[in-house]
Amino acid sequence: MGVVTITPVPRVGIIVVAAGSGTRLGAGAPKAFVGIDGHTILRHALTGVFAAPSAQVVVVAPAGREGDALTEALEAAPGRRDLVTVVAGGATRQASVAAGLAALWADVDIVLVHDAARALTPPEVFERVIASVDAGAAGAIPVQPVIDTLKRVADDRIIAAVDRSELSAAQTPQGFRRDVLDAAYAAATAEFTDDAALVAEAGHAVAAVPGHPLAFKITTADDLDRARHLLSEVPRGSAAAGLAREVVAPRVGMGTDVHAFGGEGALWLAGLEWPGEQALSGHSDGDAVAHAVVDALLAAAGLGDIGTHFGTDHPEYAGAHADVFLRRTLVLLGEAGWRVGNVSVQVQANRPRFAARRREAEAALSAALGGAPVSISATTTDGLGFTGAGEGVAAFAVALVVPA
Ligand code: CTP
Ligand code: MG
Repeated sequence: MGVVTITPVPRVGIIVVAAGSGTRLGAGAPKAFVGIDGHTILRHALTGVFAAPSAQVVVVAPAGREGDALTEALEAAPGRRDLVTVVAGGATRQASVAAGLAALWADVDIVLVHDAARALTPPEVFERVIASVDAGAAGAIPVQPVIDTLKRVADDRIIAAVDRSELSAAQTPQGFRRDVLDAAYAAATAEFTDDAALVAEAGHAVAAVPGHPLAFKITTADDLDRARHLLSEVPRGSAAAGLAREVVAPRVGMGTDVHAFGGEGALWLAGLEWPGEQALSGHSDGDAVAHAVVDALLAAAGLGDIGTHFGTDHPEYAGAHADVFLRRTLVLLGEAGWRVGNVSVQVQANRPRFAARRREAEAALSAALGGAPVSISATTTDGLGFTGAGEGVAAFAVALVVPA
């Protein structure tokens, strides 16, 4: 009997506005489709979006370029076609956001609006904005301190100094309760420079959360040069961004895990429930395959191991299944500037038999890793050792991570 896995409908919708023409960049193509390195601005923006918590992603593309936008989305997140909606934008940014709003699923109750032009925005900024709205804010936007001394100038003369301590630069993604943003857009009669201004005009308080220097907007040719420079040097989001000089190569990591049979309830292994099989014991669900994969990924990225991030001092992971561990690992990797290349894992156990459910297990793990390929091999150990004696399961994983 097969196990039905129900993927929950995301509560978060991220509208990525990419329909602008890029007049100031002047690259001869709509800005979203201009290349930074081997990849376009839109592709980089979507890589960051998909590394954030699972959400419906609405890409607002220039009219006529919807197919190209979908291709970029599927390359940024292979296997996540189910989460992607593409619509055509309007003549202004505000009209483009409105087109995105109209395409949100009914279940979405938190909406983030993000400029594709902020192509290098790290996933942690999305997380902070979502957390603020989730905690009760009507809206939340990322801000950065203003560094330069500011003056009010008219006709080439300094009129006044401006107190910089009260000023912040607004970035995106800007997040809102869905009902608040829908109502503000329905009521808007003028053009606003950003969504926060429109929502503030409708009478709502908007919270500020820390933004990120990498969330800068690519507006001019100089900005594009800066993005190119950053991408050629270090994985985005890493603490060393802008400092290191060497090109970052892919990295491998390995992980192993062992769990003994004798847990309560059903067996969970490789992200699947195995009805009728003996359960494994462990702090979480005892899924040795998933835990070996997490260790391999963290080791590859140099981020410690499973105990560092998910140890017994994190009660929220008690009883958690593979997807919770893997999705969190993906976020940790994204924040450090890595994405998953591929994962290979071998299971040593007498039971369960993987042959009939190998593809299903690979698909489950791959989905939790944002679509990265996962291959599973399984073997018995000829009656030798604890796995041969049927006392437990061992798993060995190798993972490749590449700069995001
Ligand atoms: N945008 C949009 N629809 C528009 C105008 C802008 O979706 N009609 C999007 C852009 O694609 C961009 C974001 O809004 O991701 C911020 O706009 P901006 O940086 O001004 O981009 P462009 O309008 O493309 O650039 P320019 O103003 O230089 O023409
Ligand atoms: Mg513009």
